[in-house]
Amino acid sequence: MRSAKQPTDSLPASVAAAVQTRLAGAADSAGHELFLLRLQRWWPDLRDGLVSVYGAQAEGAAVRLLELAVDAYAARDPELKRLDLVRSLEPDWFQQPEMMGYAAYADRFAGTLAGVADRVGYLRELGVTYLHLMPLLRPREGDSDGGYAVADYRDVHPDLGTVEDLRELARTLRESGISLVLDLVLNHVAREHEWARAARAGDRRYQAYFHTYADRELPDAYERTLPEVFPDFAPGNFSWDDELQAWVWTTFNSFQWDVNWANPDVFVEYADILFFLANVGVEVVRLDAIAFLWKRLGTDSQNQPEVHAITQALHALTRIVCPALLFKAEAIVGPADLVHYLGRGAHHGKVSDLAYHNSLMVQIWSMLAAGDARLAARTLANLPPVPSTTAWITYLRGHDDIGWAIDDGDAAAVGLSGHAHRNFLSDYYAGQFPGSPARGLVFQSNPATGDRRISGTAASLAGVEAGDDRGLARVLLGHALAFGWGGIPVIWSGDELAMPNDPDWAAEPGHGSDNRWTHRRRLSEADLSRRTDPATAAGRLFTGLQALAQARARVPHLDASVSSEIAPLADPAILPVLRHHPLGALLGLYNVSDSWRPFPWWRLGELAITDPWDALANADVKPDEDGNVWLAPYQAMWIV
Ligand code: GLC
Repeated sequence: MRSAKQPTDSLPASVAAAVQTRLAGAADSAGHELFLLRLQRWWPDLRDGLVSVYGAQAEGAAVRLLELAVDAYAARDPELKRLDLVRSLEPDWFQQPEMMGYAAYADRFAGTLAGVADRVGYLRELGVTYLHLMPLLRPREGDSDGGYAVADYRDVHPDLGTVEDLRELARTLRESGISLVLDLVLNHVAREHEWARAARAGDRRYQAYFHTYADRELPDAYERTLPEVFPDFAPGNFSWDDELQAWVWTTFNSFQWDVNWANPDVFVEYADILFFLANVGVEVVRLDAIAFLWKRLGTDSQNQPEVHAITQALHALTRIVCPALLFKAEAIVGPADLVHYLGRGAHHGKVSDLAYHNSLMVQIWSMLAAGDARLAARTLANLPPVPSTTAWITYLRGHDDIGWAIDDGDAAAVGLSGHAHRNFLSDYYAGQFPGSPARGLVFQSNPATGDRRISGTAASLAGVEAGDDRGLARVLLGHALAFGWGGIPVIWSGDELAMPNDPDWAAEPGHGSDNRWTHRRRLSEADLSRRTDPATAAGRLFTGLQALAQARARVPHLDASVSSEIAPLADPAILPVLRHHPLGALLGLYNVSDSWRPFPWWRLGELAITDPWDALANADVKPDEDGNVWLAPYQAMWIV
């Protein structure tokens, strides 16, 4: 028999003592044992993450972190503690096919936080179970990069409401079966944030929160291998600050100061912010721009191994304090780097629970433009599997531009030049390619690399705005791909109503140079009411997406624990996506072209799919006289 061990036996003495003292001081001793058991369970992950990044400083950091953890745990609302329990009993809750997301700016979707609560009925009607509200913590004044320049993480944008309103909204959503998702902007703070102010006032402690340089020597050395995120309106990665009399690392805009994660104090600060958000009732945090956290000379300073160690340590802390909380990685990086955010190797299953499937999104638009699935098949087939305890966030559009993250090797493997194909996609979606019905805008054209990213709503990019008959079918097919991949499909606000680009995007103060605002529409009651009118594009799309969500919820094969594979292509215009579920195979077929396409009937038999049923059309699948199943232009089928 194993000897009776105390939960704190495996902890260093300093850590165990700090936790015991803190717990003794906390009210509600009932939950102490649970806290200690969770600590015992997650300590190795926390320790390994901290030690690999902070070395000898790790133990001191652990003491401070666990003191904060005890405080946060003690302060956690009993309702949320109950949710922790419920989620622990059902750890795969977010992998189920009923999950479906919606992402919006609170003000543009519904005015205020209270307005969002008033539109919960609308969201439920669509089938939403997950609501990502774009950054709403108090930003700097003026241009704040859509809220991604946070001045105070513990306050809400005054136009939207208060922290109490946020807590109330989280509760309302929770009661309606919707999980609240908020951003944690952890690569940078606004120049107006108190840490940056203190740094400028000469406080050395806070100067060490940032990457600052007295002269250009190091910035120049770094620049040699750094890409530019906003070459148009924020060229370079460093900004001179007159008050500080130094160069500051600013990957994004000059008013977004990158924080220095090599400093354990920064880690402790963000852990505490994380606890704050969890205790307000946030159920998923979107780790914004996470790829950029760690800087390394001679590299592009993205996707560095330390990023994953940091995430692992933060994740372990949330398992101890608030296990209902999930992490979602926002790493818009190439396919090879992407899967690491869901955990590879030593970090398997220990980092983010969710990550944006940027690669799928790019491939959907690429297939729709080219009418060809071969590059997508090659790219998606090459992605290593992700841990079965995680899920992708699949999407067609979001609040950002689309960057053509296409791997040159993948392109070459199907006889394309990566560079030429990226160019084609930019031309096509900017409406500059002959015959293209797309009406996108070019975002951040970079003459040095030839890169041009694209802004625009799904409807405008797919040809609805231009009046192309097939536009709606393209938007629906794009969503069918996202809904059929497995994971949580997320609809970008306005896309469910086929909203076109906003022609007046530049009119609002601070938006003038950033055309991403063209696809960040305000939704009026009149816009929403069109959803019930089948004569409108809005009505048809809304109903189509509702049907997709309902079909998805009926197909257990779409559980995210099962991975998607690409089956051999029978036709270059049909992407066959296969999922081997214990209940049998699910074959998703997606005709990405504007013509009728055949799929050989015998291939279904080969997959042991007898009596095939299309879960999307709710109908039997039958071969034609020629022995093929025929797919209409842009038709999707989910065959079980
Ligand atoms: C993320 C956001 C983007 C923002 C950037 C900087 O990529 O999606 O909108 O500009 O981070 O915070």
